[in-house]
Amino acid sequence: MTAPPVVPQDIADRAASLRRELEAHNYRYYALHEPSISDAKWDRLFRELHDLEASFPILVTPDSPTQRVGAAPLSEFAQVSHRVAMLSLANAFTTEEVENFDRRCKAGLAQPAGESIDYACEPKFDGLAITLTYENGVFVRGATRGDGTVGEDVSANLKTIRAIPLRLTLTAPLLEVRGEVLMLKKDFAALNEQQRAREEKVFVNARNAAAGSLRQLDPKLTAQRPLSFFAYAIGAVEGIDLPPTHAALMDLLVQWRFPVTKERRVVRGVTGLLEFYQDIGERREQLPFEIDGVVYKVNRIDWQEQLGFVSRAPRFALAHKFPAEEAETLLLDIEVQVGRTGTITPVARLQPVFVGGASVSNATLHNEEEIRRKDLKIGDTVVVRRAGDVIPEVATVIYAKRPADAREFVMPTRCPICASAVVRLEGEAAARCTGGLYCPAQRKQALLHFAHRRALDVEGLGDKLVEQLVDQELVRTPADIYRLGLAALAGLERMAEKSAGNLLSAIEKSKRTTLARFLFALGIRHVGEATARDLANHFGNLDAIMQADEAALLSVHDVGPVVAQSIARFFAEPHNREVVEQLRACGVSWKDVVPESKPASALFAGKNVVLTGTLVALARDEAKAKIEALGGKVTGSVSKKTALVIAGDEAGSKLDKARELGVTVWDEAEFLRHLADVEEGLD
Ligand code: IVH
Repeated sequence: MTAPPVVPQDIADRAASLRRELEAHNYRYYALHEPSISDAKWDRLFRELHDLEASFPILVTPDSPTQRVGAAPLSEFAQVSHRVAMLSLANAFTTEEVENFDRRCKAGLAQPAGESIDYACEPKFDGLAITLTYENGVFVRGATRGDGTVGEDVSANLKTIRAIPLRLTLTAPLLEVRGEVLMLKKDFAALNEQQRAREEKVFVNARNAAAGSLRQLDPKLTAQRPLSFFAYAIGAVEGIDLPPTHAALMDLLVQWRFPVTKERRVVRGVTGLLEFYQDIGERREQLPFEIDGVVYKVNRIDWQEQLGFVSRAPRFALAHKFPAEEAETLLLDIEVQVGRTGTITPVARLQPVFVGGASVSNATLHNEEEIRRKDLKIGDTVVVRRAGDVIPEVATVIYAKRPADAREFVMPTRCPICASAVVRLEGEAAARCTGGLYCPAQRKQALLHFAHRRALDVEGLGDKLVEQLVDQELVRTPADIYRLGLAALAGLERMAEKSAGNLLSAIEKSKRTTLARFLFALGIRHVGEATARDLANHFGNLDAIMQADEAALLSVHDVGPVVAQSIARFFAEPHNREVVEQLRACGVSWKDVVPESKPASALFAGKNVVLTGTLVALARDEAKAKIEALGGKVTGSVSKKTALVIAGDEAGSKLDKARELGVTVWDEAEFLRHLADVEEGLD
């Protein structure tokens, strides 16, 4: 037998120090999300440790950061019996159910009706519950929840998750920490991006991605997946004095370097619970991870023990769930819709299903490609997703439920509205109706766009009205809007004389506009609000834009070949020029823009302006420069000569003085609003 090589002391010390340093950086990065060194520096330290361990394998410890890259594959997961059962939570969906929960807690604790209970509130993570076992401060095992009594040993996979500490400063004989493994939204998006690029399976949601990644027999695969972890409870412990409340326990877990969400709060009584639910619900989209509700726990641990358990759930805790964002339903048919520029969008007609808090019977399918990619057939059972205010979509197909007579979708070759040919241009995902403004569907959308609040802003001209105006052939082009009279309008459905009058005055009012709005309203492909503004500022007047060739258009800021071609083609079309002339003839007008130099605005010209307090959106210098560019003068103190005071946060004596002298005062929001108006040419 050969003796193991002797490791020089300085090398052993260096390895130990590298291990400590790397784990400290892992903690800062994965638990606190506050890295203090660059990735490159981390890589260098890691490689140094890796090389030392390669030269002296005896230096490798089970908790070394190098061991997080994944051990050898398993043929199956071993079973683990949980020392303390991993329970589920009772669910609530309504305020009433939350009130009942609070009432039951009070009754169980013999609390007087007037006395409120303190609850610890947390998000309900939408991931996988796991338990981590530490013996004498070293991670020895980790398991899934399984059926609550017996789970699967996924230790090798959990070791690859850098947010999970492998060694604690605490050296108690036993500590079990429970929490959720999940994938952050940004990591999920990046993973799917990568899967798509490699033409590999994309995951339906972050939960499935996390579950699929954790339940890999090959830990090296898990190591490549960006998994996170949050702790929210403990299991069996030995040799630790537990704190009196759940909140204090969470603080202790933080001290032990477990990641615990910052989104936790102790609240009082039902009112507090409902406020927490509301607050998290409103911020749900912005949270970095997916949640499916919130969890309430009686804060006092002795009270938790007193309340105990009923069947498989604690009496002291409750999951208050958000309405499900996914539901199964039947795809009854696929129809197509024609958009403003002729884009033909397939739409799923669904058996109505309650999802994300609303009944859903339609979902967009984007384009033909998307239908092929998802392998959708009419008659399929599908999973519909509706998150927040996002348009509902078909997330996946449940192939196991596909009926024998499921039908393939065929893109029509003729527009279902005007029967013009449907084409699909090279390199474009969308099919298009070639009918242009001959197609009533395109005409309706074009009119709605023209009347939109951010275009010519014809208040009250919505889809029901446009529908009737087009169907009854009262309006064909935007110019026809300005030729409508009381008699024509009064003949429409649901149009009393008063509303007809209101609409006519809104139409009249819309005639005065800006060049940028007018350009945007025309609905030229690829010309959004920003491009319209750039064009207006660059050319100054409409005739110059109408005459510009592609080369001239290309010299506009942010206008590329595709946009330039689209603008030139639009104005080359005689009927488009005709519509523009008709609109001008009807009295639609705007002030020309003096190209590239802003006009002096009456708002600031020749006025003394004082800035005080802290401005949030603009630096003081920027605000000053803007006022001066518009002909104003920024002065330091408030006097009778001051015309305007702009007061940011925590404005003090200057603001008082302005009020005393009766000087006009704007807050920052008002100032920004006026600046935006000036830039748009409205002031
Ligand atoms: S506490 C004794 N807290 O919800 C109670 N669970 O439906 C133990 N979950 O299996 C659970 N977020 O996977 C708790 N902040 C949170 C949670 C949470 C998600 C999961 C957990 C549990 C399931 C019960």
